[in-house]
Amino acid sequence: MARQQSQLNRSTSHELTPVASCRDRGRQSFIFHAKRHLGQFARLSLSRQFEYPANPLPSEDPQDTDTGVIGTHVRTGHAQPEQSSAFAAWSALNIGSQQQMWRALNDMLVHQAPVLAQRAETLAARAAPGSLELSPDLEMPAYFLQTAYHGQPGGYCLDRGGDDWHAGALQEAGGNLYSRGAGTGARDSKGQAVVRFLGETFPEFAPDKVIDLGCGYGGQTSNYAAGFPDAEIHGVDLGASLLRYAHLRAKSLGLKIHFRQACASDTRFPDASFDLVVSNILLHEIPQTMLDGVMRESFRLLKPGGLVVHQDVPTQRPGTPEFQRWLSNWQVAHNDEPFWQSFSETSVPQALTDAGFSKTDIFERYQPQIDGPLVWYMVGARKQ
Ligand SMILES: C[S@@+](CC[C@H](N)C(=O)[O-])C[C@H]1O[C@@H](n2cnc3c(N)ncnc32)[C@H](O)[C@@H]1O
Repeated sequence: MARQQSQLNRSTSHELTPVASCRDRGRQSFIFHAKRHLGQFARLSLSRQFEYPANPLPSEDPQDTDTGVIGTHVRTGHAQPEQSSAFAAWSALNIGSQQQMWRALNDMLVHQAPVLAQRAETLAARAAPGSLELSPDLEMPAYFLQTAYHGQPGGYCLDRGGDDWHAGALQEAGGNLYSRGAGTGARDSKGQAVVRFLGETFPEFAPDKVIDLGCGYGGQTSNYAAGFPDAEIHGVDLGASLLRYAHLRAKSLGLKIHFRQACASDTRFPDASFDLVVSNILLHEIPQTMLDGVMRESFRLLKPGGLVVHQDVPTQRPGTPEFQRWLSNWQVAHNDEPFWQSFSETSVPQALTDAGFSKTDIFERYQPQIDGPLVWYMVGARKQ
């Protein structure tokens, strides 16, 4: 079966893409630049606090013990960056920029709600190549209901009833602005990175059936549909509003994708029904017990010879700089990312082995972004 490099990426627009007004563009530009500069400040200045031993040395200039990060004579030990006023300012501005981001994007969507609702209605009436299966009685895990991930208003579980798809629109817009602020280009795509990884690592592999676990608004699922045009593509997520949006979005792009509301650890598909199981940045957003369940489900769903690939943030790199690990903890403390740290401390290969995969069939790689400076963590296995 064919494998194609898709053109779908963070700049892809469709009928539910909001049009930013002059005011929206101004607010988003402010947030984009704030995030870029805060990121640079963290990398170039704040990180220097980690270059010194844990025991603080006496400062040559007492005035500098607090400001900490500027100049080469910093004497703050790496164990106490939180005590520096530079850290406090960076942290406050970072939290503020994230709150501003959600406010600006939410306002943009709310201001044009009537136009977007009209477009959604037109789309809903159009015949779909794919499908949407919601389960209103599905029991939601407590962590999912309790977390407003990285500050997204209402969290991924936000569902205002009826045909609501607001959470999906917010997730797409937020993901795009956040990642651009983090330095990633508009042509990036995590799904494409996985398709590229598969092409480089398993060039002979051609899946007939693919499932994307924790597919959210369906942006990456679209890349599997475009990357494997002959395959049957499925996406599952817990969020009903995310999936309504994903379904309309796929319709607008003319993609045949089947979306189902289900837990990634219990998808209700038969055993051995997929050739490829994938997830994109799901693992760092779930607790350890759920991660173990997702690995067991990945094993159960795969046909013999099938592949599972989970793509996520690269905090599991051996030799990850201490500063990077400290930033992960900051996400837990200040950005409503309760599982980022536990994920960093988890051995996914061990979880895959516990789920039934053979040790010798497990792989871990660091794959460059399609359009950005970062690498992604790719971990997975082939089922014998
Ligand atoms: C960071 S988002 C990533 C969305 C999408 N994969 C992407 O990369 O664009 C994580 C997604 O996982 C979903 N999720 C969290 N826990 C889940 C679970 N137990 N089962 C299914 N989906 C889950 C969330 O609703 C959310 O859409």
